[in-house]
Parts: sequence; structure tokens; C-alpha cells
Amino acid sequence: MRRGIIRGIAAVGAVALLGLGTACSNHREGSTSGSGDAKGFAKNSLVGVALPAKTSENWVLAGDLFTNGLKSAGFKADVQYAGASTTVADQQAQISSMVTKGAKVIVIGATDASQLATQVAAAKQAGAKVIAYDRLITNTKDVDYYIAFDNYKVGQLQGQALINGMKAKKPKGPWTIELFSGSPDDNNSKVFFDGAMSVLKPLIDKGDIVVGSGQTAIKQTAIQGWKAENAQSRMDSLLTSTYNGKKKLDGVLSPNDTLARAIITSVKGAGKPVPVVTGQDSEVESVKSIMAGEQYSTINKDTRKLVAETIKMVQSLQKGDKPQINDTKSYDNGSKIVPSYLLPPVIVTKENAAEAYANDPQLAPLTK
Ligand code: BGC
Repeated sequence: MRRGIIRGIAAVGAVALLGLGTACSNHREGSTSGSGDAKGFAKNSLVGVALPAKTSENWVLAGDLFTNGLKSAGFKADVQYAGASTTVADQQAQISSMVTKGAKVIVIGATDASQLATQVAAAKQAGAKVIAYDRLITNTKDVDYYIAFDNYKVGQLQGQALINGMKAKKPKGPWTIELFSGSPDDNNSKVFFDGAMSVLKPLIDKGDIVVGSGQTAIKQTAIQGWKAENAQSRMDSLLTSTYNGKKKLDGVLSPNDTLARAIITSVKGAGKPVPVVTGQDSEVESVKSIMAGEQYSTINKDTRKLVAETIKMVQSLQKGDKPQINDTKSYDNGSKIVPSYLLPPVIVTKENAAEAYANDPQLAPLTK
């Protein structure tokens, strides 16, 4: 069974949920209902959606989908993004304003997981339900549900793709790699990294994979704000410090597509061959890059599905029903195990891109 630090404490989760009088499943695929004491609320109520800065295409898409989807489900929607620079303060103010306006549910894609306790406490006090969307909110009991793609699985798929890609180019190791992780204020970053390391570490320990720079601690690999320029400058430094001689870089673990493209830009700028680079999000430019044989892999996390499932959760709460959840053990936010609904991510390489995006009107044509 998989175990990351964040996913430990299964027994505690079960007890906590039973304590709330809730059906509980230890089997992550099994569906069950989450905690919820909602008596329901009027159908045309306000639903707030507070999203982080537009650091990747999925967030841009999510905003539009929420605005339209909530409206066609009969709700009033207030969809806000945190600004590019003052992200935390912006998001805090936006959530407070949603509470003041009487939102019955507030869906939050946290810009900083640990900085929202005051705002969600106020939401809770006002009787609103809080759903953490894509990114967990930490150190508060006031988050009711979490909905996301299975982030740990994303990391595992990235780690395995990195190995597969390197093996395809050079069947025998040792392979030399570098590791990148996402922004430290995003709870997902560590989960992605832990998932990837669960696959890579056994090979690192055996000496089949070597991290050229020796930088294996998540702190050393983190890219603040998920910003492309920060990834590019870290890769520039690594190339100068570690790969200016004969040493060849075979692969780079990149947590998402924006950073993958920045890493590739850096390597090309230094006149080096492009290594195997992983990604995530199925961004248009990365899918093009994969089809052109440059970026090796991405992850398909269909935002349309995630938003649709979130709106279903909101509809259940509106009716006073318990939303469907399928995980009661993985996401300990430091104060509670948050009942979660996790969707399965899909790994995409050039080989399966046509199949993976067959139902995506924007991406399917790129794979022809
Ligand atoms: C999301 C990723 C995204 C990243 C940067 C993460 O929390 O899960 O899909 O690439 O944020 O926006």
C-alpha cells in the first residue's frame, strides 16, 4: 500500500470519521458518503470560487467552467482569481468578501495552503461549506471536503515515465537526472514529489540513477510560485555547476508543463541535447512539444471532469445530501483527515496522446 507522510495515519482518519458518525471506507476506491450536516439551502444561492493566480492553463479553464457550470445549475457564481503578485492577501480578501455576501459554499484553490485558516473559520461560522479544490488547505478543521486528481499517483506516474523515457534512449543505466518540485506553499508539491520519489528512490539507492547535482532534498528542488523563470534560472545554474564538462544529463523530473518547457528552454539555450523531461497538465504548448519529440510526458487531469464533479458536490450540499467521496485516509491536513473525492490521472506520451485526448476538442487535433 502506498504511504507518503501526508497519507499516513489511516487509522486516525477512520476513527475521526467514525467519530463524526460517518460511513467510512478504508478502501480508497470504494465510494462512500462524506461528513456533512447540511440541511440544504436555496437553489439560487451564491457559490464562491476563489482560485489562485493563473500559474497554469488548468486554472484559466477552471474559472470559465465554474462560471458557466454553476450558472447553468441555477446558482449565482462569484469566481475570483488571486492577482499575480499579492496572491495571498488577494485570496484572503476575496474569500472574506464571499462570506460577507452570504455564499453558501466556497470552493477554494488555495494560493498558499497554510494561510487561509482565519478566512475558512469565518466561512464556517457563517454557515458556509468549504471545499478545497485541487489543492488542500492545511492546519484547519474548517475545510469540509477536498476534491482533486490523485496527486500522489501523479507523482508516481511522472517518476515511472522518467525511467521509461530514459530506458528507451539508453537501455542500461546509470542514468543522470535532476529533480524539480513545485511551489512550497502549494500542498500538492510535496505530494507530487513524494509520489515520484517512491518510484525513483529505490533506483537512486541502487546507484542506477544518479542525481548529478546531489540536490535531492525537496527544499533544494522547489520552484517558488510555480514560476517558469525560477525553473529556468535553477536549470541554468545546474548546467553551469554540474554539466559544464563531460557529464551528460539524461532526465529531469519536472512537476508540471510550465516548468518542463522552462527547463527545456534552458538546456537548449546552453546548446545541450534535450533530456527526458516529464510534465503535468496537458498544456497546449507541451502537447505540441511532446508530439514534436521534445518534452517526453505530461499528465492528463481533465479540468472539465474536476469542475463537473465539484459542481455535483455543491448540488448535493444544496439538497442537504452528503456529497460522494472515495477517500477517507490520504489527506491529513494537520488538523483533520479531510474527506476527499479523488479522480484518476492519466500519463500521456507521444505513444498514447491520440487516445488520451480523443475526447478533448482542443488537444485531439494536435495529435493527428
Ligand atoms: C496543480 C497543477 C499545476 C500547479 C501550478 C498545482 O496545484 O495541481 O496541476 O500545474 O498547481 O499551477
